[in-house]
Amino acid sequence: MTATAEPDLERLFEHTIERDQRIEPRDWLPEGYRKTMIRQIAQHAHSEIIGMQPEGNWITRAPSLRRKAILLAKVQDEAGHGLYLYSAAETLGADRADLTEKLISGRQKYSSIFNYPTLTFADVGVIGWLVDGAAICNQVPLCRSSYGPYARAMIRICKEESFHQRQGYELLMTMMRGTEAQRAMVQDAVNRWWWPSLMMFGPPDAESPNTAQSMAWKVKRHTNDELRQRFVDMSVPQAKALGVTLPDPELKWNEERQHHNFGPIDWDEFKQILKGNGPCNAQRIAHRRKAHEDGAWVREAAAAYAAKQEGRA
Ligand SMILES: [Fe+2]
Ligand SMILES: [Fe+2]
Repeated sequence: MTATAEPDLERLFEHTIERDQRIEPRDWLPEGYRKTMIRQIAQHAHSEIIGMQPEGNWITRAPSLRRKAILLAKVQDEAGHGLYLYSAAETLGADRADLTEKLISGRQKYSSIFNYPTLTFADVGVIGWLVDGAAICNQVPLCRSSYGPYARAMIRICKEESFHQRQGYELLMTMMRGTEAQRAMVQDAVNRWWWPSLMMFGPPDAESPNTAQSMAWKVKRHTNDELRQRFVDMSVPQAKALGVTLPDPELKWNEERQHHNFGPIDWDEFKQILKGNGPCNAQRIAHRRKAHEDGAWVREAAAAYAAKQEGRA
C-alpha cells in the first residue's frame, strides 16, 4: 500500500459505515477499529464459553429427563456461540490460541455475571429469564453491527438466545405453580440475580470510555443506559406475570418519562468482580485452564494429522 492510497481507503471505510453497509474481512479498516472489534468479539466469545460453567453445574442434577435434555441443549448452544465468535475474531487476524491464553491468564475479560454461583435449580430458570434476557437486549442491535462476520454470527446467536430465555421462563412458571418451597426458591434466585443482570449492560454512559467511538463506528447501536432501561421495562411485566417481586423498593413506573425508575446500582460490587474478587472468578478460570490443558493432546493430534496430510500432498 502506498502512502497516498491511505486517505482514499479511509474515506471508503467511513463511507461504508455512513451508508450502513457492512465492513468485510477483505476491506481495509483502521487499526483502532480492528482492535476494538477483536476486544469486543473476544470478550463476547469468552463470556459464552465461561457462561457454560454456572449452568453446567446442574446438568447431572437436573430434576427430570426433560429438564436435563433442555439444559444440555442450552449449554451446548453456548459452546457453539463461543465457536462462531472465535471464528469471527479470526477474520480480523486474531489467533484463537492467543485469545484463549489471554483469557486464562486474566488479560482478557468475560462478562462478570458468570462469577456468581448457581445455588439451586431455580438459578437455571432465572439465568435463562434474566441473564439470557439481558443478553438478548444487548445482542439484538448487534445484528446490525458494522462488522459483517460479527453481525451475521449475532443473527444466529439471537435466535438461540430466545430459546434460552423461554426455557428459563417456562421453568420458573412451572416452579411457581409448584409448592411453597419451590416458589421461595424462585424468589431467592431472583433476589440474587436481578442486580447482577442490570450490571451486564456495563457502566453508566458517563463512565463508559469506549461508547462514543463504538457508536460512531456503528459497532454499538445504543448506549449502556438505554439498553438497561429497555431491559427493566421489559422485565417488570414478566415478573408480575410470574408472581415474583423484583428486589428494588425504588422500582416504579414514571408516567412522565414513560419508563420505570429504578434504584441505584452497586457499582463497587461490579468493580470488585471486574478486579477478580467475585465469588467464583478463580474457580471459573481454574476450570477453563484445566479443560484447556486436558485438551492439549487433541490439539497436538490434530496438528500432527494436518502435517501428515500436507506431507502426502
Ligand atoms: Fe449464548
Ligand atoms: Fe444463552
